[in-house]
Amino acid sequence: MNSAISCQNIIKTYNTDGQIVTALNGINVEIGLGELMMLVGPSGCGKTTLISIIAGILNQDSGQCLLFGEDFQALTNKEQLRFRAHNIGFVFQAYNLLPALNAIENVSVPLIINGTKRAIAEQKAKEILEQMGLSERMKALPAQLSGGQQQRVAIARALVHSPRLIVCDEPTSALDHKSGHIIMTLLKSIALKHDRALVIVTHDARIFNFADRIAEMDDGHIIKISTTTATETN
Ligand SMILES: Nc1ncnc2c1ncn2[C@@H]1O[C@H](COP(=O)(O)OP(=O)(O)OP(=O)(O)O)[C@@H](O)[C@H]1O
Ligand SMILES: [Mg+2]
Repeated sequence: MNSAISCQNIIKTYNTDGQIVTALNGINVEIGLGELMMLVGPSGCGKTTLISIIAGILNQDSGQCLLFGEDFQALTNKEQLRFRAHNIGFVFQAYNLLPALNAIENVSVPLIINGTKRAIAEQKAKEILEQMGLSERMKALPAQLSGGQQQRVAIARALVHSPRLIVCDEPTSALDHKSGHIIMTLLKSIALKHDRALVIVTHDARIFNFADRIAEMDDGHIIKISTTTATETN
């Protein structure tokens, strides 16, 4: 299997006022090109920490994580920024939309960062927002959108620049069954073409059948990886 992501013995601790929390305690995992892996486990077990390291937005204390063969932590800050901007889309658990920008502008940001002209970026943003079922709400600010609508804007923003890796933290938590199904189908069809990879943290059993493999985490460890027969493709 060619790896999109290869993590070896990842350890991550947080130190808050002298209180040490070991969030990840020796994670080994390979995620293949063209694979959708889901991560499940109880609150506080380390899921967000792990995907933040995989996506290069948090540094591990020790261990190595290769992203498409690249040792992200060995890159300079400038190289890291560039690598992330081109290769990674991230859907945050709390969406992290920019409050002063409307939906189209929020979704355009990754393209503009990569040098796309504003008019072209906004056209692409509109197309993807339409696919997300948000044609009527494209000019709305995040505060004027429902939770599920904000979540779909956040997913559109992670997809718009066609990154090679998309990482999502609970992408369907605010969506009803039908919207969740539409969004997962779209995510999978966009994210997995041309041998990309998709990593999704979820508690939502309704979407498990989109996964190729499901990794169960507990207390900073991956305790089990099951191979599923993905019945939902695209
Ligand atoms: N910035 C931080 N500073 C200190 N401790 C943190 C920080 N972020 C996470 N932790 C701790 O690290 C552990 C793992 O947290 P993490 O957010 O990765 O869990 P999670 O599996 O994503 O949980 P949830 O399902 O509730 O989102 C928890 O004990 C948490 O309290
Ligand atoms: Mg989390």
